[in-house]
Parts: sequence; structure tokens; C-alpha cells
Amino acid sequence: MRSAVSPAKAYSLPTSHSEQEENKRHNSEQVHLPVLRDEVVRGLQVQSGKFYIDATIGLGGHAAAILEASRPEGVLLGIDQDEEALRIASKRLSRYAHRYELVHANFAQLREIASARHIKGCDGILVDLGVSSLQLDSAQRGFSFQEDGPLDMRMDRELPLTADEIVNYYSEKDLANLIFQFGEEPFSRRIAKAIVKARPLHGTKDLAAVIARTVHPSGHHRIHPATKTFQALRIHVNDELNRLSQFLQFATHLLVSGGRILVISFHSLEDRIVKQAFRALSSACICPPGLPECVCGHQKILRLVTRKPITPTPAEVERNPRSRSARLRIAEKL
Ligand SMILES: C[S@@+](CC[C@H](N)C(=O)[O-])C[C@H]1O[C@@H](n2cnc3c(N)ncnc32)[C@H](O)[C@@H]1O
Repeated sequence: MRSAVSPAKAYSLPTSHSEQEENKRHNSEQVHLPVLRDEVVRGLQVQSGKFYIDATIGLGGHAAAILEASRPEGVLLGIDQDEEALRIASKRLSRYAHRYELVHANFAQLREIASARHIKGCDGILVDLGVSSLQLDSAQRGFSFQEDGPLDMRMDRELPLTADEIVNYYSEKDLANLIFQFGEEPFSRRIAKAIVKARPLHGTKDLAAVIARTVHPSGHHRIHPATKTFQALRIHVNDELNRLSQFLQFATHLLVSGGRILVISFHSLEDRIVKQAFRALSSACICPPGLPECVCGHQKILRLVTRKPITPTPAEVERNPRSRSARLRIAEKL
């Protein structure tokens, strides 16, 4: 039995932000373009009467497209760990009232979310990973090196760890390992050493400047030299890779036969996790090579719909440069 999807929780916009932050939020909302929107709607095979989960609802761009394409009776459960995003999504989706519910949670908690609502199956699940335009464009959230903000980077503001603690208190060795592992940054040791020497660091611009001076003293660079370090800090603060692996295990079990899971990732670490999980779940045997007979007892539960990821067209990249590294993988439940 599926849950009846209740009217969305009414999120009200906070009043404590400065006018400038408020303007930026509305701007983000307006300029936010969901990545690979048409490919997502087609990939999910959206129809009326079906039940979808958008596990990273963000500003509600994909959710609006799914609710629109599933008129008049499709229903959607939206999850996000960012309460601010949920408030905006709730406003954006208000015209679909009674066809969706929004939940403030980490998608790694999908099992508990489903169980609390007696959800036994789902026709399609979407995950659009990474940072939303809202998070990137609000300096106060600390994700951007273009504008100064606190060293925060928490998608869920209730999380205990901030980037400040890592940057100002981790040992040089731990810092270097983290920047290497989650940023795939070849200059990780040099950067960690420079950060430790420059402590205390107070904001994102401060940190970005230290990295830029260390990696590209000449000031000439194609992508900002802090990009990989910022990615590493964000992944660690939000424990992104572990959460994704936990989520994929349960999400694929929740799908009904013929139901599809779609994942949009933005860097190779995420994409590798998705690719490996889909490959394992679509293989009948995961024994190490060379065994005379199968001993794993593994069951194939998925069919790969995309062998190679779908990427945005040049026209989409031109319209929305943030889509340029997006990769969409799709699998179907057997
Ligand atoms: C790229 S945005 C999604 C944009 C959305 N598809 C849209 O069309 O507006 C990613 C969102 O996922 C959320 N997010 C990332 N990891 C999450 C997790 N583990 N659990 C819940 N939400 C997560 C972020 O807070 C962010 O709002």
C-alpha cells in the first residue's frame, strides 16, 4: 500500500535575512534551471496516477516538471536536507497542492521516511546531486569562493561539523588527505601546509586567496584553483559519498517492477559510486574473477537503461553553464 500524499507542510520564508540576501534568493529561484529537465521527465516515463520521489528537491525545478507531466493524478514526495530550499520549493509547487509532500531529511534516511508513511513501492526516483543555485549564490552559506562568506558549507544547518572546524583545527596531514581524497587535488599537501600556516582563516575569500597564492602564484588559471579544495570540504562536511551509497541500496529496493531510478552527478567521485552500484545491482554474480563456481548468491534486480551517462547538449550548457559537468544515469527495476 502506498501512502496518501498529504498537502505540503507550509514553509514560510524567514524574515531575519538582509534585503540583499533576500533579493539573491529570489534571483536564484528565477534563474534556477533544472539540469537535463526533459531527459529526466522522459527517463522517468512520467504518467498520471504514478508515485515519484524527488530525493533532492532543491528549488523544485524537476519536481514541477514531474508534477506537470503527471497531471492529473501523479503524486510526489520531495526530500531535501536544506530547509531553506524546501521553503522555496513549497512556494514554487503550491499550484500542485495535494499532489505532493515535502520532507526535511537526508535522503540516506529513505528507509525511515518510507516506513513512517507506509510506502511499499515507488514508480520512479530522482536524485540530482550537488549544490543548488540557492546554496551557491548565498554568500552566507559559505559554498562560494566568488563572494566572501563564513566557512560553513553545511547543506543542513543542523549538522555538527562546519568547514571552519576543518580548515582551522584539522591536522595538516588530515587536511591534505581529505583534499586529496575528496577533491582529487594533486597539490593537496602544498595547500594543506599553506592553510595551516595562514591560520586562523575567517572566510571563504580568505581561504580561496591562500589556495590561489599557493597553487597559481602567477594569478593565471582556467578554473579557480580553490575549486577542488572547496569540493573536498563540502563533501566531508555533508558526508556526501557515504550518504549516497546508503541511499542507493534502499532506493533500488523501494522501486516497483518497471520503476526507474535516475541519478544526476557532477563529479567523478559521485558518478563512480552510482556506476558501481548500478553495475553490481544489474549483475547476476559479483564473485571475484577466477572462482570455479558462483558462491555469492547475488541477485540481479536492475536493468541498465543507460550504459553511458546522458550529458547536456551544447545548447543547454550555453543556457546554463552550471550544467556542463552533469551526468545522468538511469536503471530500471526488473
Ligand atoms: C542540485 S540541487 C537540486 C535541484 C533540484 N533538482 C531542482 O530542480 O531545483 C541539490 C539539492 O540536493 C540537496 N541534497 C544534497 N544531498 C542531500 C542529501 N544527502 N539528502 C537530502 N538532500 C540533499 C541539497 O540540499 C540541494 O538542495
